[in-house]
Amino acid sequence: MVTEAVKALSAEEITRLCLQHTLYDWSAQAGLKPLPVTSAKGVYFHTADGRRFIDFNSQLMCVNAGHGDRRIIDAIKRQADLLPYIGPAMATEVRARLSAKLAELLPGDIDKVFFTLAGADANENAIKIARAVTGRSKILARYRSYHGSTGTTVQATGDPRRWANEIAGGGVVHVVDPYHGIQRGWDSAAEALANLEEVIDLEGPRTIAAFILEPITGTNGILVPPDGYLQGVRELCDRHGILMICDEVMTGFGRTGRWFAVDHWSVVPDLITMAKGLTSSYVPLGAVGLRPKVAAHFDENVFYGGLTYNSHPLACAAALGAIQAYEEDDMVGNSKRMGEVLARLHKRLQERHPCVGATRSIGLFGAIELVRDRKTMEPLAPFNGSSPEMKAISQALLDAGLFTFVRWNTIMTNPPLCISEAELEEGFEILDSALELGDRAVHS
Ligand SMILES: Cc1ncc(COP(=O)(O)O)c(C=O)c1O
Repeated sequence: MVTEAVKALSAEEITRLCLQHTLYDWSAQAGLKPLPVTSAKGVYFHTADGRRFIDFNSQLMCVNAGHGDRRIIDAIKRQADLLPYIGPAMATEVRARLSAKLAELLPGDIDKVFFTLAGADANENAIKIARAVTGRSKILARYRSYHGSTGTTVQATGDPRRWANEIAGGGVVHVVDPYHGIQRGWDSAAEALANLEEVIDLEGPRTIAAFILEPITGTNGILVPPDGYLQGVRELCDRHGILMICDEVMTGFGRTGRWFAVDHWSVVPDLITMAKGLTSSYVPLGAVGLRPKVAAHFDENVFYGGLTYNSHPLACAAALGAIQAYEEDDMVGNSKRMGEVLARLHKRLQERHPCVGATRSIGLFGAIELVRDRKTMEPLAPFNGSSPEMKAISQALLDAGLFTFVRWNTIMTNPPLCISEAELEEGFEILDSALELGDRAVHS
């Protein structure tokens, strides 16, 4: 049989048809100009009109192993030949191998997982589990957080993405974070814990099922908590029988220079959620990890939850391929080592550019906050807003071939964990020249 070659669409056709027939997320559609991407390898991706971009955000902080890794692609292909799908009530070799491997990598005594499709439904299920296990309904979450765009997770999300989705009586109570924005800065661990304890007391400790938190906050600004904070949260949760859910959807799988962010403080949450880096996002997969004392509840009680694609064989194979790539190339170690280079390059930008108000990073998880004035620390764009200067910087980065996530007054620096020092330097040279646009807006 002769297969007819399909003529590739042009860059213009790809963009036009995507805009005409698909709804893009988190945007008003008019004026969108999505890049027509055709291929990607390592830290670069290419468009149908011949442009090359260095990927300084691993797309959505998720392609941790880098693009086009053969080990992940071949693992998916082998599984597709063998058994692409079977229902979640079955046992499969790929599910067996992946769950055993995760039990080895996950913090402390966490040794059982419930597989989901992504980060949001991992958090939905973690919250459902916490409510079932404790018999309590209320969930604590922080304002500067993102936990997903679905039912309960968007209620738990503290940032403005919640506002348009809010329903009264969602059962979520928000608490302030240790960080209060670039002008007010940071609380100490003791101050932040005192705020949290006050909310727990006022809400009624015995009404709270769980506290869900990103151990290191992601899209809300790469916020590394003061030392002692996570240990204090663990202690408060233990004291009140509140389950601690750590959302490691973004921080898991080497992003911060350790397998999981909680490993920096040796804290073991009761439930941990993951997605993104679990498969390096080659195939959608998320999971909730449960400590034995939590999982034991379901020995005799029914777990009321399910998904057609739970433990999808192609996704489990992709995760095994991704973990193989992380281990063979010591990408978690590379994240730590290159993270030190990234921190140095951040500081160099801060020395050279008056518009750089703060830089933060841990491993290859970084952000640069821009200001109009280093004395007042007035941000270059307001909370939940943009400005002509931030828009110009964003465009200049793209024009020079650097893709990253620019949000409010913040530029993210989250490249794939396979990045080399030379590639980091290449990205920072582009940042260096684009920040001159920010410097022109500086008052003093
Ligand atoms: C910390 C965190 N939790 C949850 C999610 C939601 O994950 P997903 O988009 O896979 O549903 C994200 C996505 O960015 C995230 O960063």
